[in-house]
Amino acid sequence: MIHFAIVGCGHIANKHIEAINKIGEARLVAVCDTNLMRLQELSASLQIACFTDLTEMLASLPEIDVVCICTPSGLHVKHAIAAAKAGKHLIIEKPMAMTLEDIDLIIDAASQHDVKIAVVHPNRFRPAVQRLKWALDKGVFGKISHISATLRWNRDQAYYDQSIWRGTRSMDGGVLMNQAIHSLDLLQWLFGSITQVKAMIDTRIRNIESEDVAVATLRFANGYLGVVEAATTIYRANLEESISVFGEEGYAIIGGPTASWIKQWNCAKYPAEEVNEWIKQVEADPIGTSGHQAILNDMVEAIYTNRQPIVSAADGRSAVKLVLEICEDGLRNMPTREIGGFVC
Ligand SMILES: NC(=O)c1ccc[n+]([C@@H]2O[C@H](COP(=O)([O-])OP(=O)(O)OC[C@H]3O[C@@H](n4cnc5c(N)ncnc54)[C@H](O)[C@@H]3O)[C@@H](O)[C@H]2O)c1
Repeated sequence: MIHFAIVGCGHIANKHIEAINKIGEARLVAVCDTNLMRLQELSASLQIACFTDLTEMLASLPEIDVVCICTPSGLHVKHAIAAAKAGKHLIIEKPMAMTLEDIDLIIDAASQHDVKIAVVHPNRFRPAVQRLKWALDKGVFGKISHISATLRWNRDQAYYDQSIWRGTRSMDGGVLMNQAIHSLDLLQWLFGSITQVKAMIDTRIRNIESEDVAVATLRFANGYLGVVEAATTIYRANLEESISVFGEEGYAIIGGPTASWIKQWNCAKYPAEEVNEWIKQVEADPIGTSGHQAILNDMVEAIYTNRQPIVSAADGRSAVKLVLEICEDGLRNMPTREIGGFVC
C-alpha cells in the first residue's frame, strides 16, 4: 500500500483526492492546509489526519510515502524540499516552481534523499493529444514548416481576487506560468526543444501584477517555426486552447475550449475514413483517463518498479524555462514603463 498526503487543499487538491481514491494500492492518510475551515470540511468528509503545518505532518506520520504539493505555485519549492528531506516522493503541481534556481534545489534535495519527482502536466494524457503524439512519432505530416499554440481563456477579475496569490508575479507568475504552461509543455513534448524566442507580453485588462496576455514566436531545434498566443482576457468564457501543426504532407489542429478535440486533420498517409474514426473515438470520450489519475497511477507504478515517473522533473523544468525565456524577452521588449513590479 502506498500512503499519500496532500499539502494545499484548494481547488486542484480535489483531483488528487479523487485520483488517490481510485487507486487500489493507494490510500490518502493526511492532508495539510493553513485554512482551518477547509481542513474542517475535509476532516468531516474524509476522516483522516489533518494538519496546519507540513513539518508537523511529516514528523507525525512516518508511513507517508508520497506528498502531493498543491499549494500556491510560489510555495512549491519550500514544500517540495521539506517533503523530499523527509524522504517522501513528490507529485508537484505545475508550475514545478517559479525559478530554475528553485527547481534545481528541489531536484538536488530529491536526489540526495533518493525520492522520485512527478510534475503534473496532465494534458499530455488527453486522447486527442495522444493521437497527435502518435502521428508525430510516425512522421505522418512529413516535413513540418510551423506550429501554433493558442490559449484564449477567460479568468475574470473575480478569479484573480479570490486569493491573494493569484495574479502576483512571485506566487502565480501570469498567464504563461499559470495557464499556458500546459501548452508550452505540450509544444516541447510533441515537437522537441526550442532554441530561440521573441516575445511581447503585457497586462492589458485585469488588475493584476503579472501579464494577462502574451504573444511569442519560436524556433525549434528541428527547424520548425512556432507561434504562441496566450491570454486570460477573453470576454466571458474560455474560447480556445489549441495546438496546430502544418507539414508538407498534412496538418492537424487539436482544439476546442480545452485542447481535447481533433478539430481538423488532413494528411496523405491516412484516408479520411480512418481519420474520421479517430475523431469519433475522441468525441466519445475527450478526456479519457484524467491526466491527474494517469500521473498518480504512474507514481505508484514507478515506486513499485523503481523507475522514474513518466512526467519528470526535467519536463517540469523545461516548461518553466520556456515560460521564463518568453517573459524575459517580453519584458525586454516593453515600452519604458512599469509592469508587474519590473521597470523596463
Ligand atoms: N494541473 C492543473 O491542471 C492545475 C489546475 C489548477 C491549479 N494547478 C496548480 O495547483 C496549485 C494550487 O492551485 P489551486 O487552484 O488549487 O489554488 P487554491 O488557492 O485553490 O489552493 C491552494 C491551497 O493551499 C493552501 N495553502 C496556502 N499556503 C499554505 C501553506 N503554507 N501550507 C499549507 N497549505 C497552504 C491554501 O489555504 C489553499 O487551500 C497551483 O500551483 C496551481 O498552478 C494545477
